Amino acid sequence: MEGQQKDDRQGQVRFLVFSASLRDNSLNTRLAKLAALVIEKNGGTVDFASMSEFDCPSFNQDLEVDGYHPEGAEAFRKRILANDAFIISSPEYNGSMPGIMKNTIDWASRFRPQPFHQHHALLLSASPSMAGGNRGLWSLRIPLEHLGTRVYPDMFSLAMAHEAFDERGSLKDNILAKRFEDNLVGFMNLVEASRHYPCIKKAWVEFLGEKTDKETERVEYEA
Ligand SMILES: Cc1cc2nc3c(=O)[nH]c(=O)nc-3n(C[C@H](O)[C@H](O)[C@H](O)COP(=O)(O)O)c2cc1C
Repeated sequence: MEGQQKDDRQGQVRFLVFSASLRDNSLNTRLAKLAALVIEKNGGTVDFASMSEFDCPSFNQDLEVDGYHPEGAEAFRKRILANDAFIISSPEYNGSMPGIMKNTIDWASRFRPQPFHQHHALLLSASPSMAGGNRGLWSLRIPLEHLGTRVYPDMFSLAMAHEAFDERGSLKDNILAKRFEDNLVGFMNLVEASRHYPCIKKAWVEFLGEKTDKETERVEYEA
């Protein structure tokens, strides 16, 4: 059996898909749009968002007065919770993730319950470089995994992305296009399966093994 086969029980599994670039003509937005098409073709439901909807002021703890959260963080939280999983196509800036992405994650991490815990994520990147922005995705894994997101092991990074798309927005290289689809379908099958076999982990403990006094403890138990 070649490649990933779609699991017909997928039903209406919902995926939030967005690009972490604000730029017009963004290569990552192109890749995110292609991911959305592939998901729909394989029976998933897509909630496509724009990074501008999640933009937040620079994080400052002093702004957190009377439960304040910026609109962008609130929008991000709602969209994460309204979907079964999220997919980010992120540029690489200076070997890392864009500041806007980390800023939005930091703000959204301040909600309780903390929204990232137990949600699945798939990371994509596109860059004109030969490595396709893959280093940026390793940095993006860190805060997400720290917050309890189940980040899919396989990350797709489109090298020389400025030359990779045809005029319809598909990948010119058929073998690469199949790998992209297999990557997405594998992720879709995992998200669908996890609906039936939820993880038995019951708590998010930010710093496992640390002293359990009031100042250091950050634990959330599931209802
Ligand atoms: C500040 C800055 C830093 C960048 N650093 C990297 C880098 O480390 N690695 C890389 O592959 N591309 C880097 N690039 C190039 C981006 O990959 C390229 O501009 C890409 O098109 C941005 O993604 P977008 O098209 O989705 O906006 C950088 C671009 C900028 C503006």
